[in-house]
Amino acid sequence: MNYWTVIPAAGQGKRMNAGISKQWIELLGRPVLAYTLDVFEKDPNCKGVILVGSEQELKQMKEFVQTFQYTKVREIVPGGSERQHSVYEGLKVVPEDCGLVLIHDAARPFITEHHIGQLVENAAKTGSAVLAVPLKDTVKRVVQNQVEETIDRSSLWAVQTPQAFRLSLVKQAHEKAADEKWVGTDDASLVERIGENVAIVMGDYHNIKLTTSDDLLFGQAILLERQG
Ligand code: CTP
Ligand code: MG
Repeated sequence: MNYWTVIPAAGQGKRMNAGISKQWIELLGRPVLAYTLDVFEKDPNCKGVILVGSEQELKQMKEFVQTFQYTKVREIVPGGSERQHSVYEGLKVVPEDCGLVLIHDAARPFITEHHIGQLVENAAKTGSAVLAVPLKDTVKRVVQNQVEETIDRSSLWAVQTPQAFRLSLVKQAHEKAADEKWVGTDDASLVERIGENVAIVMGDYHNIKLTTSDDLLFGQAILLERQG
């Protein structure tokens, strides 16, 4: 099934603390954004990409897209103060006949065409699906350095992007959240709030989000392994 992708890339990377936003950090000599865009550029089912950047980086993004000829990038739009606001700005310019819309963080560059395919296949049937992996660590709720509770891990999953939706559904979810000034950390949580089911599709432990500097080490190892 055909799809479009919204890529939020308007964050500041505060936790990475690299002095530049995360999509410009280089791994094995190429910026993170290049790896993230490559997979959508190559996937024949992806019919368009909307990049969302911060106001001050829009020019840099346009130049990058032109220089490296990312032909699928149809628009580059300014984002907002929270990730959710940036995604919403991107969703506004996705064409209604997009098929499905995928939302994928620029800072998650190791997604594969295989996992996108699995996600799209599921969302085509269900209307909303996310990639996720079972948690590996034991998880405890902690208050002031004291364990309050150990949470049963067997039903806990770490959710990733891309997340795939019918466009009308995810737009409705974003509109309601915006009206109510409710902010979530992913798009599926907004869809859950309008009472829709969200399906889980087995993701990949390599599909990490680059959040802190430790993640760059793992990221380089992933790329080296893929290069053989
Ligand atoms: N993002 C965005 N607009 C924002 C905040 C985040 O488009 N206002 C994007 C980021 O660029 C990133 C993705 O959302 O690709 C996931 O967010 P996160 O990992 O939190 O990135 P940052 O917000 O940049 O990092 P931090 O929270 O550490 O500042
Ligand atoms: Mg953030």
